[in-house]
Formats: sequence, structure tokens, C-alpha cells
Amino acid sequence: MADQKEALTAEMIDPAEIFRRTLAKFLGPIQAYLADPSVVEVMINGPDEIFIEKHGQLVKTDARFENEETLIAAIRNLLQFVGKRLAPDYPMIDARLPDGSRVHVAMPPCSRIGPCMTIRKFAKEGFSVDYLVECGTLTTMALDYLRVAIETEKNILFAGGTSSGKTSVLNTLATFIPPQERIIVIEESSELQLRQPHVIQLETRGPDRYGKGAIDIRELFRNSLRMRPDRIIVGETRGGEALDLIQALTSGHGGSMSTMHADTPTDALNRLETMALMSDVAIPLNALRTQISSSIDIVVIMSRFHDASRRVVQITEVLPVDAEYRYQMKDIFTLKLPEGGRKIEEGVLAWTGARTALLDEVQARVLAQDLPSLAPFFADTKSVSQP
Ligand SMILES: Nc1ncnc2c1ncn2[C@@H]1O[C@H](COP(=O)(O)OP(=O)(O)OP(=O)(O)O)[C@@H](O)[C@H]1O
Ligand SMILES: [Mg+2]
Repeated sequence: MADQKEALTAEMIDPAEIFRRTLAKFLGPIQAYLADPSVVEVMINGPDEIFIEKHGQLVKTDARFENEETLIAAIRNLLQFVGKRLAPDYPMIDARLPDGSRVHVAMPPCSRIGPCMTIRKFAKEGFSVDYLVECGTLTTMALDYLRVAIETEKNILFAGGTSSGKTSVLNTLATFIPPQERIIVIEESSELQLRQPHVIQLETRGPDRYGKGAIDIRELFRNSLRMRPDRIIVGETRGGEALDLIQALTSGHGGSMSTMHADTPTDALNRLETMALMSDVAIPLNALRTQISSSIDIVVIMSRFHDASRRVVQITEVLPVDAEYRYQMKDIFTLKLPEGGRKIEEGVLAWTGARTALLDEVQARVLAQDLPSLAPFFADTKSVSQP
């Protein structure tokens, strides 16, 4: 009896259980999709229009909320549960649910069609590096190349379109970070789940009802520098923190990784430049370009294909700027279509034959670690500096 009572009390105060019940009550119309593991994203565009992503396809469902008030009540409840508030001053809200799923809310007037909510469901298991090769996201050679880059503390930017798998790949490749390192992870709302023993996760905080107390990525980043990090991982770079990041990386904080929305390596560096220029510190453009080119070592471009696969389509090394301060880059892997191939899905990530600028440093480690897939980098070592 006492046991039963104890279990009941534990169940009653277990936040996950309360959350599950709250969800069931308020999110009734989409409950089935939240429970279905093959649904990766649920998109509510106002009460009458609900889409899901399943097996890589966007599908419009028959589900609907009774009316706008019911939807707003559901949103309000969900946010309340995760410590965020629906208030007229903050029509855009990003949050993480107790089960790890990510939720974004856009309210009028920013959303023209009424309350919108997007739920990216949490992939419980994460991916393994072997899975990334098996499902064609990467080839063994590209994986080994990135592995050595991470082990030798190169700074890597994962860029691509929305939902192209940037965060998942970063999360998976982070397993290559040596376990003895102290890693600080900075995110808008926590997604990354590093498996190393020494990880500190920092998350931004919105303002209180008086508009005070907000802590943004930039502030977290500045603080993280004083926390004796071996590596800093910024979940997504998208604002004024870019300049702090670039300057920290230039001054020797190696091995950082971040994601960014950009379609090509040039696009990624240009965006980084624009973001850095948005910060309140004035810096001459040429100096900024020099810093960017020395801070970012590698840009990995990801893409989401029509068949729902997410793949790396390009891996490029960033070289020093030229005399006119233009970015110089060297493609190491690009997507190649097989002969007669017509569809982009048939493309394979292939080594371009270019020598890596990381090669010298890499060489010793590769030999030591026995990564045969990287052998082509060693062929004819006399011409190492030739692309
Ligand atoms: N290699 C992969 N193979 C198959 N599915 C993947 C792969 N990587 C990610 N996914 C799935 O794609 C979806 C988006 O992944 P992820 O959040 O990593 O993308 P993202 O590019 O970081 O998105 P965003 O632009 O919103 O930050 C998730 O549902 C995830 O499970
Ligand atoms: Mg992401």
C-alpha cells in the first residue's frame, strides 16, 4: 500500500509524465503523429492545416484543431511547461520539450496566417558514424578525413539548407573528440548530445516579463571563454556572436564546430562576414576576411535530397585570402555523378584528387591510426603541395 502510494506520488511529480498527459490533452489532434516514430516533423500552420514529414515526404494531414483558441491554448500550455511564455512582445519562440524534441512557435503579427507551431521530433538514438556511411551520408574516406580533422583540432563549419542534417552530422562526428577534453556546447535550445564524459551544455534564455534577464548566444560564448574550454561547439551560428567566434578561433581556440544556413562554402564565409559586421564592434572588411580565412579550416556542405536522404555534398578547405583579400578555397570532396547518371540522388561524394593542406600534420596520425581509406593522400608525396 505504502509502495503503491509512493509510486503514485512519484508518477504525479514526474515532469515527463505530466508532460505526456498535457500533450495528450492539448495536442490531441496531432498526438498520433507525435507517437509515430516514422514522422520526423509536425508542422501546424494555423488550426486547419497540419503537415507532417514522413519518409522524406511532406504530407498534408486531415487533422485539425477545433479553432484558433484551442490551438493557442495548446501552445500556451506547452510553452508554460518548458518555462517559456506566450506574450505579445515575443511572437517567435524556440523551445525544447522534455523528450528532447524542438518546438518553434510563430504568432501573429509575425505569422500572417495565425498561430504556427513546428515540432522537430527528437531522434532518440542519434546516428552512429557507421550508419552515416551505410546510409550514404558520407564515404569512408570523407569520414576518415573529417575524423583526422577533428582529432587535429581543425575548426569546421557544417553548412546547408534547413533540415539538411547539419546538427545530426555534427553530433555524430563529435564522437571523434578525445574523451579527456573539456567541451562547452552553446545552443539556442539544446539539441546536441555529446557522449564524452566532460561536457558542459549552455542554453540561451529569453527575457522575463519585464524584458530583462535575456542571455543570448553571444553572452554565453563570451562566458565560455572564461570556463577553460578545450573545445567550444556553437550549435548554430546566426548572429552577432560570429565576430566573437571568429576572433576566438583566430586566437587559438582550435577544434571548434558549428552549423550555419548556407548553400556553398563561399556563401558560408560571406554569411559569417555579414553576421560579424552586424556586431557592435567596427572592424575593417579586409581584416575581417583575413580573420575569417584563418579561423575556419573546413566547410562541410550538407544537402537534403528528394528521396529524404541527407548527405554531405562537398568538403572544402579554406586557404589564406589572396592579395585582394578574396577568399581562396580548395575542394577536397565533391558530389560526382556516375557516367550516364541523370539524377542528383545517384551522385557519390568523391575525392577531387586535391592534396589537403592539412596533410603534413595528418600524415603522422594517419599512419599511426591505420586509416587505409586516406592512403590516396599519401600517394606520390613529392607533389604534396600540388593540388
Ligand atoms: N544522415 C541522415 N540520414 C537520414 N536522416 C537524417 C540524417 N541526418 C539528419 N536526418 C534527419 O533529418 C532531420 C533534420 O536533421 P537536423 O536537425 O540534423 O538538420 P539541420 O540541418 O540541423 O536542421 P536545421 O536547419 O533546422 O538546424 C531530422 O529529422 C533527422 O533525424
Ligand atoms: Mg540544426
